[in-house]
Amino acid sequence: MKYAHIVGWGSFLPDRVLSNDDIAKIVDTSDEWIYTRTGIRQRRIAGENETTATMAFEAAARALAVADLPPSQLELIIVATSTPEYIFPSTASRVQDYLGASRAGAFDLGAACSGFVYALNMAAQAIATGSVRNAVVIGAETMSRVLDWTDRSTCILFGDGAGAVVLKGSSIPGGLLASTMRSDGSGGNLLRLPAVYHNPVPTLGPEFLGNGHKQNTIAMNGRQIFRFASHVVNSSIQEVVKKAGLTMDDVDLIIPHQANTRIIDHVAKKMKIPREKFFSNVERTGNTSAASIPLALCDAVEMGLLRPDNNVVFVGFGGGLTWASVALKWDVTPPEISLLDREWKRTRYIMARSRSRVRKWGRNMGARFGGSPTPDARLKDAEKKPGEQPIER
Ligand code: ACO
Repeated sequence: MKYAHIVGWGSFLPDRVLSNDDIAKIVDTSDEWIYTRTGIRQRRIAGENETTATMAFEAAARALAVADLPPSQLELIIVATSTPEYIFPSTASRVQDYLGASRAGAFDLGAACSGFVYALNMAAQAIATGSVRNAVVIGAETMSRVLDWTDRSTCILFGDGAGAVVLKGSSIPGGLLASTMRSDGSGGNLLRLPAVYHNPVPTLGPEFLGNGHKQNTIAMNGRQIFRFASHVVNSSIQEVVKKAGLTMDDVDLIIPHQANTRIIDHVAKKMKIPREKFFSNVERTGNTSAASIPLALCDAVEMGLLRPDNNVVFVGFGGGLTWASVALKWDVTPPEISLLDREWKRTRYIMARSRSRVRKWGRNMGARFGGSPTPDARLKDAEKKPGEQPIER
């Protein structure tokens, strides 16, 4: 039996800060309204050249530096996101390329704001079965690009960012102790982000117009989501703590999805758990969906709130509806990494980009001079008039 231990963590937030006062210049709202109802003061917004993949890469590179794991030894990359730039290639595959993680499998996981906890569980299971020896699990989102900036009930809530952890297998007991995952699709309409555009199929007639969406922005029933969240966070924490063979008194820190401080306050009160046991950084980041738990984890580590042998619970909830939790034993002391060492390690990513370019170039050259791969295509190419180029795909 292999135990999956967190041995590295890292986060990335874009530089641009959007305060509540800034939002009040876009829609009819105020800092006072937003803060009293959500606990949010500001959020970060991705720059023009920043994407879910670039932010995920930055967070992963930092986590690998803490874990002291070269990307060449990485075996699995999972990115939990609802805001990929592309459905395919997956964000995880882009991160794999940026990292130069040539031995890693990579895929995206979609479970909305619960995505990071689902992904952590999947990676831990892959380690426990011996399928992989290590994994990087990332939550990354550019929520600002899927918001309706005229809808004051949703655009005030979300922000952009990424967080990552490195998991490593070990025979030493500890690490991830227990997990739960749940879904209730009957509530799917309460929080949704359509993805596939309406794309008519002209030759097939109107009945084949499909059921695509004209708009891909978030829609939410805030009150129903509040009710759902306060119920499932409570039950999910109780369940995972019991499964891990712990009691609530054994739990040192709970890191919930950072949706809204009112939800966290409500749950703490209902569960009769001291509010200080629930970590929250939503005031500074807004709701970053799948990125929120790893971002909060990094802040908690930086603030010295996690010590070896602490029992920690992560609990996620969100669209789907989905909810999930993990209980884990925190068993690492943050290593000292010098700035010089960190910068030196970053040079490997410059090399990775160069190798990626060379591979692309090699592929193009192979297509140009290597001829067509199948006998049929070779025949077709031979029939082409001289000077006519094969279509590049
Ligand atoms: N500024 C000012 N007024 C606003 C704003 C705003 N940004 N948004 C809504 N209002 C108004 C509404 O128009 C409404 O006015 P009316 O009474 O004149 O019609 C009034 O405020 C009340 O609107 P509600 O939507 O009922 O506001 P509510 O008190 O429920 O608060 C909120 C909204 C904060 C979203 C709340 O429902 C909530 O906390 N829900 C939890 C959902 C959540 O946090 N989702 C996060 C994303 S999902 C996830 O991460 C899982």
